[in-house]
Amino acid sequence: MPLRIRAETASVHRIKADAAAIFLFEDEKKLTPELTAVDKSTGGLIKRLRRRGGLKGTRGEVTLLHEPGGVASPRLVMVGLGKSDKLTGEVIIKAAGIAARRASSGGVSRLVFGKIPSPSKGKSPRRDIGQDVENLVTGAIIGPYDMGLYKSKKNGHSLREVVLAGLTERQAKAALSAGRRAVKVADSVNFTRKLVFAPGNEVDPAYLAAQARALGRKYGFSVQVHDRKSLEKMGMNAILGVAQGSRNGPRLIVMKNYRGSGRGPIAFVGKGVTFDTGGISIKPSKGMEEMKMDMAGAGAVLGAMRAIGELKIKAPILAVMPCVENMPGGTATRPGDVVKTYSGKTVEIVNTDAEGRLILADALAFAARQGAERIIDLATLTGAVVIALGTLAAGLLSNDEEWCGEVEQAAEAASERLWRLPLYDEYLNQMKSPIADLKNIGNRTAGTSVGGIFLKQFVDNVPWVHLDIAGTAWTESRKAYLDQGATGFGVRTLVKLAEMA
Ligand code: BES
Ligand code: MN
Ligand code: ZN
Repeated sequence: MPLRIRAETASVHRIKADAAAIFLFEDEKKLTPELTAVDKSTGGLIKRLRRRGGLKGTRGEVTLLHEPGGVASPRLVMVGLGKSDKLTGEVIIKAAGIAARRASSGGVSRLVFGKIPSPSKGKSPRRDIGQDVENLVTGAIIGPYDMGLYKSKKNGHSLREVVLAGLTERQAKAALSAGRRAVKVADSVNFTRKLVFAPGNEVDPAYLAAQARALGRKYGFSVQVHDRKSLEKMGMNAILGVAQGSRNGPRLIVMKNYRGSGRGPIAFVGKGVTFDTGGISIKPSKGMEEMKMDMAGAGAVLGAMRAIGELKIKAPILAVMPCVENMPGGTATRPGDVVKTYSGKTVEIVNTDAEGRLILADALAFAARQGAERIIDLATLTGAVVIALGTLAAGLLSNDEEWCGEVEQAAEAASERLWRLPLYDEYLNQMKSPIADLKNIGNRTAGTSVGGIFLKQFVDNVPWVHLDIAGTAWTESRKAYLDQGATGFGVRTLVKLAEMA
Protein backbone atom coordinates (compact mmCIF):
# COMPACT_ATOMS: atom_id res chain seq x y z
CA MET A 1 0.00 0.00 0.00
CA PRO A 2 1.36 3.41 -0.90
CA LEU A 3 2.00 5.76 1.98
CA ARG A 4 -1.03 7.97 2.69
CA ILE A 5 -0.37 11.69 2.80
CA ARG A 6 -2.42 14.26 4.70
CA ALA A 7 -1.93 17.94 5.11
CA GLU A 8 -3.26 19.79 8.16
CA THR A 9 -3.49 23.36 9.40
CA ALA A 10 -3.18 22.32 13.06
CA SER A 11 0.30 22.52 14.51
CA VAL A 12 2.55 19.50 14.88
CA HIS A 13 2.12 18.98 18.63
CA ARG A 14 -1.67 19.12 18.46
CA ILE A 15 -2.09 16.31 15.93
CA LYS A 16 -2.40 12.87 17.42
CA ALA A 17 -0.26 10.38 15.52
CA ASP A 18 2.11 7.64 16.71
CA ALA A 19 5.04 10.04 16.55
CA ALA A 20 5.71 13.70 15.83
CA ALA A 21 8.92 14.89 14.20
CA ILE A 22 10.31 18.40 14.37
CA PHE A 23 13.39 19.88 12.74
CA LEU A 24 15.81 22.49 13.95
CA PHE A 25 18.92 24.37 12.88
CA GLU A 26 22.21 24.44 14.72
CA ASP A 27 22.82 28.16 14.34
CA GLU A 28 19.43 29.79 14.94
CA LYS A 29 19.17 31.26 18.43
CA LYS A 30 15.55 32.27 18.02
CA LEU A 31 12.98 29.48 17.79
CA THR A 32 10.62 29.45 14.80
CA PRO A 33 6.92 30.14 15.55
CA GLU A 34 6.26 26.41 15.27
CA LEU A 35 9.05 25.45 17.70
CA THR A 36 7.97 28.24 20.05
CA ALA A 37 4.47 26.76 20.10
CA VAL A 38 5.83 23.29 20.83
CA ASP A 39 8.06 24.76 23.54
CA LYS A 40 5.15 26.56 25.19
CA SER A 41 2.89 23.55 25.05
CA THR A 42 5.55 21.34 26.64
CA GLY A 43 6.31 23.79 29.42
CA GLY A 44 9.60 24.99 27.94
CA LEU A 45 11.01 21.58 26.98
CA ILE A 46 12.82 22.70 23.83
CA LYS A 47 14.52 25.65 25.49
CA ARG A 48 15.52 23.53 28.47
CA LEU A 49 17.01 20.83 26.31
CA ARG A 50 18.91 23.44 24.34
CA ARG A 51 20.28 25.08 27.48
CA ARG A 52 21.53 21.72 28.70
CA GLY A 53 23.28 21.15 25.39
CA GLY A 54 20.99 18.21 24.68
CA LEU A 55 19.57 19.64 21.49
CA LYS A 56 22.29 21.17 19.37
CA GLY A 57 20.56 20.89 16.02
CA THR A 58 23.73 19.60 14.38
CA ARG A 59 23.19 17.68 11.17
CA GLY A 60 22.10 14.13 11.84
CA GLU A 61 21.51 14.68 15.57
CA VAL A 62 18.39 12.83 16.66
CA THR A 63 16.61 12.89 20.00
CA LEU A 64 13.62 10.69 20.77
CA LEU A 65 11.37 11.41 23.75
CA HIS A 66 8.55 9.19 24.92
CA GLU A 67 5.31 10.64 26.23
CA PRO A 68 6.37 14.27 26.37
CA GLY A 69 3.58 16.18 28.11
CA GLY A 70 1.93 18.74 25.86
CA VAL A 71 2.42 16.73 22.67
CA ALA A 72 -0.61 14.82 21.38
CA SER A 73 1.53 11.99 19.93
CA PRO A 74 3.24 9.56 22.33
CA ARG A 75 6.68 10.10 20.79
CA LEU A 76 8.58 13.23 19.80
CA VAL A 77 11.53 12.92 17.42
CA MET A 78 13.77 15.97 17.09
CA VAL A 79 16.18 16.02 14.18
CA GLY A 80 19.02 18.47 13.61
CA LEU A 81 19.46 20.07 10.17
CA GLY A 82 22.89 21.61 10.76
CA LYS A 83 23.79 25.15 9.67
CA SER A 84 20.90 27.06 8.14
CA ASP A 85 22.94 28.35 5.18
CA LYS A 86 23.88 24.77 4.26
CA LEU A 87 20.31 23.51 3.98
CA THR A 88 19.75 21.54 0.77
CA GLY A 89 17.16 19.09 -0.48
CA GLU A 90 19.50 16.26 0.38
CA VAL A 91 19.77 17.45 3.99
CA ILE A 92 15.97 17.39 4.23
CA ILE A 93 15.70 13.92 2.66
CA LYS A 94 18.23 12.59 5.15
CA ALA A 95 16.63 14.32 8.13
CA ALA A 96 13.23 12.87 7.21
CA GLY A 97 14.88 9.50 6.66
CA ILE A 98 16.42 9.59 10.13
CA ALA A 99 13.09 10.53 11.71
CA ALA A 100 11.18 7.86 9.80
CA ARG A 101 13.76 5.11 10.44
CA ARG A 102 13.77 5.94 14.15
CA ALA A 103 9.98 6.03 14.27
CA SER A 104 9.60 2.94 12.12
CA SER A 105 11.83 0.83 14.34
CA GLY A 106 9.38 1.66 17.14
CA GLY A 107 6.46 0.38 15.11
CA VAL A 108 5.06 3.80 14.26
CA SER A 109 2.40 3.74 11.57
CA ARG A 110 1.33 7.39 11.60
CA LEU A 111 4.01 10.06 11.63
CA VAL A 112 3.36 13.79 11.73
CA PHE A 113 6.03 16.13 10.38
CA GLY A 114 6.56 19.67 11.53
CA LYS A 115 7.84 22.22 9.06
CA ILE A 116 11.29 22.65 7.64
CA PRO A 117 12.29 25.96 9.26
CA SER A 118 13.22 28.92 7.09
CA PRO A 119 16.57 30.49 7.87
CA SER A 120 15.87 33.81 9.62
CA LYS A 121 17.96 36.23 7.61
CA GLY A 122 18.07 35.67 3.89
CA LYS A 123 20.84 33.12 4.23
CA SER A 124 19.26 30.85 1.67
CA PRO A 125 16.25 31.31 -0.60
CA ARG A 126 12.76 31.11 0.93
CA ARG A 127 11.57 27.55 1.35
CA ASP A 128 9.26 26.21 -1.30
CA ILE A 129 6.61 24.11 0.40
CA GLY A 130 6.21 21.71 -2.54
CA GLN A 131 9.94 21.08 -2.64
CA ASP A 132 10.16 20.58 1.13
CA VAL A 133 7.28 18.13 1.11
CA GLU A 134 8.76 16.23 -1.82
CA ASN A 135 11.99 15.81 0.13
CA LEU A 136 10.29 14.94 3.44
CA VAL A 137 8.14 12.27 1.83
CA THR A 138 11.09 10.90 -0.16
CA GLY A 139 13.12 10.50 3.03
CA ALA A 140 10.18 8.96 4.89
CA ILE A 141 9.74 6.29 2.21
CA ILE A 142 13.31 5.38 1.30
CA GLY A 143 14.61 5.78 4.88
CA PRO A 144 12.89 2.84 6.58
CA TYR A 145 13.03 0.49 3.57
CA ASP A 146 14.92 -2.57 4.68
CA MET A 147 17.33 -4.82 2.82
CA GLY A 148 16.32 -7.94 4.77
CA LEU A 149 13.86 -9.04 2.11
CA TYR A 150 14.89 -12.67 2.38
CA LYS A 151 14.87 -13.02 6.16
CA SER A 152 12.19 -15.39 7.45
CA LYS A 153 11.46 -12.80 10.12
CA LYS A 154 11.10 -9.53 8.24
CA ASN A 155 11.75 -6.24 9.97
CA GLY A 156 8.71 -4.89 8.12
CA HIS A 157 8.46 -1.14 7.90
CA SER A 158 5.37 0.03 9.66
CA LEU A 159 4.82 3.53 8.31
CA ARG A 160 1.39 3.88 6.70
CA GLU A 161 0.64 7.59 6.86
CA VAL A 162 2.52 10.87 6.92
CA VAL A 163 0.78 14.02 8.11
CA LEU A 164 2.19 17.41 7.17
CA ALA A 165 1.34 19.84 9.93
CA GLY A 166 1.07 23.57 10.47
CA LEU A 167 0.20 24.59 6.92
CA THR A 168 -2.02 27.38 5.61
CA GLU A 169 -4.95 26.25 3.46
CA ARG A 170 -3.01 27.20 0.34
CA GLN A 171 0.15 25.45 1.45
CA ALA A 172 -1.88 22.36 2.31
CA LYS A 173 -3.07 22.08 -1.28
CA ALA A 174 0.44 22.39 -2.69
CA ALA A 175 1.75 20.00 -0.05
CA LEU A 176 -0.79 17.34 -0.91
CA SER A 177 -0.05 17.29 -4.61
CA ALA A 178 3.73 17.41 -4.08
CA GLY A 179 3.43 14.71 -1.42
CA ARG A 180 1.40 12.39 -3.60
CA ARG A 181 3.80 12.79 -6.50
CA ALA A 182 6.73 12.09 -4.20
CA VAL A 183 5.11 8.88 -2.92
CA LYS A 184 4.99 7.53 -6.47
CA VAL A 185 8.58 8.45 -7.21
CA ALA A 186 9.96 7.22 -3.89
CA ASP A 187 8.05 3.93 -4.16
CA SER A 188 9.69 3.57 -7.57
CA VAL A 189 13.09 4.19 -5.99
CA ASN A 190 12.33 1.35 -3.57
CA PHE A 191 11.15 -0.79 -6.49
CA THR A 192 14.60 -0.29 -8.04
CA ARG A 193 16.35 -0.96 -4.73
CA LYS A 194 14.50 -4.23 -4.34
CA LEU A 195 15.70 -5.37 -7.78
CA VAL A 196 19.26 -4.34 -6.99
CA PHE A 197 19.25 -5.92 -3.50
CA ALA A 198 17.97 -9.19 -4.94
CA PRO A 199 20.58 -11.88 -5.60
CA GLY A 200 21.71 -13.14 -8.98
CA ASN A 201 19.92 -16.46 -8.60
CA GLU A 202 16.63 -14.59 -8.61
CA VAL A 203 17.29 -11.57 -10.78
CA ASP A 204 18.66 -12.81 -14.11
CA PRO A 205 18.07 -11.26 -17.56
CA ALA A 206 14.75 -13.10 -18.02
CA TYR A 207 13.57 -11.82 -14.64
CA LEU A 208 14.27 -8.20 -15.63
CA ALA A 209 12.42 -8.79 -18.90
CA ALA A 210 9.42 -10.12 -16.96
CA GLN A 211 9.49 -6.99 -14.80
CA ALA A 212 9.50 -4.80 -17.91
CA ARG A 213 6.57 -6.72 -19.39
CA ALA A 214 4.61 -6.36 -16.17
CA LEU A 215 5.20 -2.59 -16.18
CA GLY A 216 4.14 -2.49 -19.81
CA ARG A 217 0.85 -4.23 -19.05
CA LYS A 218 0.16 -2.05 -16.04
CA TYR A 219 0.98 1.33 -17.58
CA GLY A 220 0.47 0.76 -21.29
CA PHE A 221 4.09 0.92 -22.49
CA SER A 222 5.00 -1.08 -25.53
CA VAL A 223 7.61 -3.66 -24.53
CA GLN A 224 9.81 -5.73 -26.79
CA VAL A 225 12.25 -8.31 -25.51
CA HIS A 226 14.98 -9.67 -27.74
CA ASP A 227 16.44 -13.01 -26.70
CA ARG A 228 19.59 -14.76 -27.93
CA LYS A 229 18.08 -15.78 -31.24
CA SER A 230 16.68 -12.37 -32.01
CA LEU A 231 19.96 -10.70 -30.98
CA GLU A 232 21.80 -12.98 -33.40
CA LYS A 233 19.56 -11.82 -36.23
CA MET A 234 20.12 -8.20 -35.30
CA GLY A 235 23.91 -8.56 -35.11
CA MET A 236 24.16 -7.60 -31.44
CA ASN A 237 27.40 -9.51 -31.13
CA ALA A 238 28.84 -7.50 -28.27
CA ILE A 239 25.88 -8.36 -26.04
CA LEU A 240 26.00 -11.97 -27.24
CA GLY A 241 29.73 -12.22 -26.59
CA VAL A 242 29.41 -11.12 -22.97
CA ALA A 243 26.45 -13.45 -22.43
CA GLN A 244 27.89 -16.55 -24.06
CA GLY A 245 29.53 -17.95 -20.91
CA SER A 246 26.22 -18.14 -19.04
CA ARG A 247 23.32 -20.58 -19.17
CA ASN A 248 21.05 -17.61 -18.44
CA GLY A 249 20.66 -16.13 -21.90
CA PRO A 250 20.78 -12.40 -22.67
CA ARG A 251 17.77 -10.13 -23.10
CA LEU A 252 17.66 -6.74 -24.76
CA ILE A 253 14.66 -5.00 -23.24
CA VAL A 254 13.08 -2.15 -25.20
CA MET A 255 10.23 -0.12 -23.72
CA LYS A 256 8.41 2.78 -25.34
CA ASN A 257 6.27 5.51 -23.88
CA TYR A 258 5.70 7.48 -27.08
CA ARG A 259 3.17 9.95 -25.79
CA GLY A 260 3.04 13.70 -25.87
CA SER A 261 5.37 16.05 -27.70
CA GLY A 262 6.27 15.78 -31.35
CA ARG A 263 9.98 15.63 -30.58
CA GLY A 264 11.97 12.45 -31.05
CA PRO A 265 12.42 10.26 -28.02
CA ILE A 266 14.85 10.58 -25.14
CA ALA A 267 16.58 7.26 -24.68
CA PHE A 268 17.15 5.93 -21.15
CA VAL A 269 19.79 3.22 -21.44
CA GLY A 270 20.68 1.06 -18.42
CA LYS A 271 23.46 -1.48 -17.93
CA GLY A 272 21.87 -4.74 -16.83
CA VAL A 273 24.63 -7.15 -15.84
CA THR A 274 22.70 -9.33 -13.40
CA PHE A 275 25.95 -10.78 -12.08
CA ASP A 276 29.49 -9.76 -12.98
CA THR A 277 32.07 -12.43 -12.16
CA GLY A 278 34.46 -10.73 -14.57
CA GLY A 279 34.24 -13.71 -16.92
CA ILE A 280 37.56 -15.39 -17.83
CA SER A 281 39.30 -12.24 -16.52
CA ILE A 282 37.71 -13.32 -13.25
CA LYS A 283 37.38 -11.00 -10.28
CA PRO A 284 38.90 -11.76 -6.86
CA SER A 285 36.39 -13.56 -4.61
CA LYS A 286 36.51 -10.96 -1.86
CA GLY A 287 33.40 -8.81 -2.18
CA MET A 288 32.31 -10.50 -5.40
CA GLU A 289 28.84 -11.08 -3.94
CA GLU A 290 28.21 -7.37 -4.36
CA MET A 291 28.41 -7.76 -8.13
CA LYS A 292 24.73 -8.71 -8.07
CA MET A 293 24.29 -4.91 -8.11
CA ASP A 294 25.80 -4.59 -11.60
CA MET A 295 22.29 -4.23 -13.05
CA ALA A 296 21.62 -1.04 -11.08
CA GLY A 297 21.53 1.00 -14.32
CA ALA A 298 18.79 -1.16 -15.81
CA GLY A 299 17.13 -1.22 -12.39
CA ALA A 300 17.07 2.59 -12.30
CA VAL A 301 15.58 2.76 -15.80
CA LEU A 302 12.84 0.26 -14.82
CA GLY A 303 12.12 2.26 -11.65
CA ALA A 304 11.91 5.48 -13.64
CA MET A 305 9.50 3.85 -16.10
CA ARG A 306 7.35 2.73 -13.19
CA ALA A 307 7.21 6.32 -11.90
CA ILE A 308 6.50 7.67 -15.38
CA GLY A 309 3.61 5.21 -15.60
CA GLU A 310 2.30 6.08 -12.15
CA LEU A 311 2.49 9.82 -12.82
CA LYS A 312 1.20 9.45 -16.38
CA ILE A 313 4.03 11.63 -17.70
CA LYS A 314 3.52 12.34 -21.36
CA ALA A 315 7.12 12.29 -22.53
CA PRO A 316 8.49 10.32 -25.47
CA ILE A 317 10.83 7.87 -23.76
CA LEU A 318 12.68 4.97 -25.31
CA ALA A 319 14.09 2.69 -22.60
CA VAL A 320 16.82 0.27 -23.65
CA MET A 321 18.30 -2.28 -21.25
CA PRO A 322 20.93 -4.78 -22.35
CA CYS A 323 20.78 -7.57 -19.78
CA VAL A 324 23.35 -10.34 -19.41
CA GLU A 325 25.15 -12.46 -16.87
CA ASN A 326 28.96 -12.28 -17.15
CA MET A 327 30.24 -15.78 -16.38
CA PRO A 328 33.44 -17.75 -17.03
CA GLY A 329 33.17 -21.23 -18.52
CA GLY A 330 33.83 -23.39 -21.53
CA THR A 331 31.68 -21.25 -23.77
CA ALA A 332 32.81 -17.87 -22.43
CA THR A 333 34.57 -15.18 -24.45
CA ARG A 334 38.37 -15.54 -24.38
CA PRO A 335 40.64 -12.52 -23.93
CA GLY A 336 41.70 -11.63 -27.45
CA ASP A 337 38.41 -12.58 -29.06
CA VAL A 338 37.13 -10.06 -31.59
CA VAL A 339 33.45 -9.18 -31.99
CA LYS A 340 31.67 -7.13 -34.61
CA THR A 341 29.28 -4.84 -32.76
CA TYR A 342 25.80 -3.79 -33.87
CA SER A 343 27.29 -0.50 -35.16
CA GLY A 344 29.67 -2.39 -37.46
CA LYS A 345 32.77 -1.41 -35.48
CA THR A 346 34.94 -4.31 -34.37
CA VAL A 347 36.28 -4.69 -30.82
CA GLU A 348 39.06 -6.81 -29.44
CA ILE A 349 37.99 -8.02 -26.00
CA VAL A 350 41.25 -7.86 -24.08
CA ASN A 351 39.63 -8.00 -20.64
CA THR A 352 36.32 -9.80 -20.23
CA ASP A 353 35.67 -7.84 -17.04
CA ALA A 354 35.21 -4.64 -19.08
CA GLU A 355 31.85 -6.05 -20.18
CA GLY A 356 29.58 -3.11 -19.40
CA ARG A 357 30.96 -0.99 -22.23
CA LEU A 358 30.49 -3.91 -24.63
CA ILE A 359 26.81 -4.43 -23.99
CA LEU A 360 26.28 -0.66 -23.90
CA ALA A 361 28.06 -0.28 -27.25
CA ASP A 362 25.28 -2.31 -28.86
CA ALA A 363 22.50 -0.73 -26.81
CA LEU A 364 23.65 2.86 -27.48
CA ALA A 365 24.02 2.25 -31.20
CA PHE A 366 20.56 0.70 -31.18
CA ALA A 367 19.07 3.73 -29.38
CA ALA A 368 20.69 6.09 -31.90
CA ARG A 369 19.44 4.01 -34.82
CA GLN A 370 15.93 4.03 -33.32
CA GLY A 371 15.92 7.81 -33.71
CA ALA A 372 16.69 8.92 -30.16
CA GLU A 373 17.25 12.68 -30.10
CA ARG A 374 19.02 12.60 -26.76
CA ILE A 375 20.50 9.69 -24.85
CA ILE A 376 21.30 9.18 -21.20
CA ASP A 377 22.87 5.97 -20.00
CA LEU A 378 23.32 4.79 -16.42
CA ALA A 379 25.90 2.15 -15.72
CA THR A 380 27.93 0.70 -12.87
CA LEU A 381 30.82 0.88 -15.29
CA THR A 382 34.11 1.41 -13.50
CA GLY A 383 35.74 0.87 -10.14
CA ALA A 384 37.73 4.00 -11.05
CA VAL A 385 34.73 6.26 -10.46
CA VAL A 386 34.52 4.94 -6.90
CA ILE A 387 38.18 5.89 -6.42
CA ALA A 388 37.59 9.33 -7.95
CA LEU A 389 34.28 10.34 -6.35
CA GLY A 390 33.49 7.75 -3.70
CA THR A 391 29.82 7.13 -3.02
CA LEU A 392 28.86 10.81 -3.00
CA ALA A 393 28.47 11.62 -6.68
CA ALA A 394 28.05 9.81 -9.96
CA GLY A 395 30.52 10.56 -12.74
CA LEU A 396 28.96 12.48 -15.63
CA LEU A 397 30.48 12.39 -19.10
CA SER A 398 28.92 14.02 -22.13
CA ASN A 399 29.41 15.01 -25.75
CA ASP A 400 26.88 17.86 -25.64
CA GLU A 401 26.82 20.97 -23.45
CA GLU A 402 23.11 21.65 -23.70
CA TRP A 403 21.93 18.13 -22.89
CA CYS A 404 24.55 17.89 -20.16
CA GLY A 405 23.16 21.10 -18.63
CA GLU A 406 19.63 19.73 -18.67
CA VAL A 407 20.69 16.55 -16.95
CA GLU A 408 22.60 18.54 -14.32
CA GLN A 409 19.51 20.66 -13.72
CA ALA A 410 17.30 17.59 -13.34
CA ALA A 411 19.76 15.98 -10.93
CA GLU A 412 19.97 19.17 -8.88
CA ALA A 413 16.17 19.30 -8.60
CA ALA A 414 16.16 15.63 -7.61
CA SER A 415 18.96 16.08 -5.02
CA GLU A 416 21.19 13.53 -6.72
CA ARG A 417 24.81 14.56 -7.08
CA LEU A 418 26.68 14.38 -10.38
CA TRP A 419 30.26 15.43 -11.08
CA ARG A 420 31.51 15.96 -14.59
CA LEU A 421 34.66 14.21 -15.78
CA PRO A 422 36.40 14.94 -19.07
CA LEU A 423 36.12 13.11 -22.37
CA TYR A 424 39.33 14.30 -24.07
CA ASP A 425 39.82 12.80 -27.53
CA GLU A 426 43.29 11.64 -26.48
CA TYR A 427 41.79 9.05 -24.15
CA LEU A 428 40.93 7.12 -27.28
CA ASN A 429 44.64 6.56 -27.92
CA GLN A 430 44.59 4.06 -25.07
CA MET A 431 42.02 1.97 -26.86
CA LYS A 432 43.78 1.27 -30.14
CA SER A 433 43.91 -2.40 -31.01
CA PRO A 434 46.44 -3.90 -33.42
CA ILE A 435 43.79 -6.25 -34.78
CA ALA A 436 40.39 -4.46 -34.55
CA ASP A 437 38.90 -0.96 -34.59
CA LEU A 438 39.07 -0.72 -30.81
CA LYS A 439 40.03 -2.76 -27.78
CA ASN A 440 37.86 -2.73 -24.69
CA ILE A 441 40.40 -1.56 -22.08
CA GLY A 442 42.98 1.18 -21.71
CA ASN A 443 46.10 1.43 -19.58
CA ARG A 444 44.53 1.83 -16.11
CA THR A 445 44.79 5.64 -16.00
CA ALA A 446 41.63 7.77 -16.07
CA GLY A 447 39.53 4.61 -16.08
CA THR A 448 36.15 6.33 -16.00
CA SER A 449 36.96 8.69 -18.86
CA VAL A 450 38.41 5.83 -20.87
CA GLY A 451 35.19 3.87 -20.38
CA GLY A 452 33.29 6.97 -21.46
CA ILE A 453 35.33 7.62 -24.59
CA PHE A 454 34.73 4.01 -25.63
CA LEU A 455 30.96 4.46 -25.30
CA LYS A 456 31.12 7.75 -27.21
CA GLN A 457 32.20 5.81 -30.31
CA PHE A 458 28.76 4.21 -30.47
CA VAL A 459 26.31 7.11 -29.99
CA ASP A 460 26.61 8.39 -33.55
CA ASN A 461 26.94 12.04 -32.44
CA VAL A 462 23.52 12.06 -30.78
CA PRO A 463 23.59 14.33 -27.69
CA TRP A 464 24.49 11.90 -24.94
CA VAL A 465 25.20 11.78 -21.22
CA HIS A 466 26.83 8.84 -19.50
CA LEU A 467 26.39 8.46 -15.73
CA ASP A 468 28.85 6.10 -14.08
CA ILE A 469 26.92 5.03 -10.97
CA ALA A 470 29.34 2.35 -9.72
CA GLY A 471 29.91 4.37 -6.52
CA THR A 472 26.44 5.78 -5.93
CA ALA A 473 24.21 2.76 -6.62
CA TRP A 474 25.35 0.89 -3.54
CA THR A 475 26.38 1.75 0.01
CA GLU A 476 28.37 -0.75 2.02
CA SER A 477 27.41 0.59 5.41
CA ARG A 478 24.03 1.21 6.95
CA LYS A 479 23.31 4.88 7.57
CA ALA A 480 20.99 6.53 10.07
CA TYR A 481 18.84 7.64 7.13
CA LEU A 482 19.19 4.60 4.83
CA ASP A 483 19.81 0.89 5.04
CA GLN A 484 23.00 -0.55 3.59
CA GLY A 485 22.97 -1.82 0.02
CA ALA A 486 21.09 -0.49 -2.99
CA THR A 487 20.28 3.22 -3.10
CA GLY A 488 18.11 3.44 -6.22
CA PHE A 489 20.38 6.20 -7.53
CA GLY A 490 19.28 7.76 -10.80
CA VAL A 491 15.54 7.09 -10.63
CA ARG A 492 14.70 10.56 -9.32
CA THR A 493 16.86 12.32 -11.92
CA LEU A 494 15.35 10.32 -14.78
CA VAL A 495 11.82 11.16 -13.63
CA LYS A 496 12.69 14.88 -13.47
CA LEU A 497 14.14 14.64 -16.97
CA ALA A 498 10.94 13.05 -18.25
CA GLU A 499 8.92 15.81 -16.60
CA MET A 500 11.14 18.48 -18.17
CA ALA A 501 10.84 16.93 -21.65
N1 BES B 1 30.90 -3.84 -12.79
C1 BES B 1 32.25 -3.43 -12.81
C2 BES B 1 32.47 -2.05 -12.19
C3 BES B 1 32.13 -1.90 -10.74
C4 BES B 1 33.14 -1.82 -9.80
C5 BES B 1 30.84 -1.72 -10.32
C6 BES B 1 32.83 -1.62 -8.47
C7 BES B 1 30.54 -1.53 -8.99
C8 BES B 1 31.54 -1.47 -8.07
C9 BES B 1 32.76 -3.39 -14.24
O1 BES B 1 32.18 -4.27 -15.11
C10 BES B 1 34.21 -3.69 -14.20
O2 BES B 1 34.55 -4.79 -13.86
N2 BES B 1 35.05 -2.71 -14.54
C11 BES B 1 36.45 -2.89 -14.57
C12 BES B 1 36.94 -2.30 -15.88
C13 BES B 1 38.38 -2.58 -16.17
C14 BES B 1 38.58 -4.07 -16.41
C15 BES B 1 38.78 -1.77 -17.37
C16 BES B 1 37.04 -2.13 -13.40
O3 BES B 1 36.56 -1.06 -13.05
O4 BES B 1 37.98 -2.64 -12.81
MN1 MN C 1 33.15 -6.18 -15.07
ZN1 ZN D 1 30.30 -4.89 -14.67
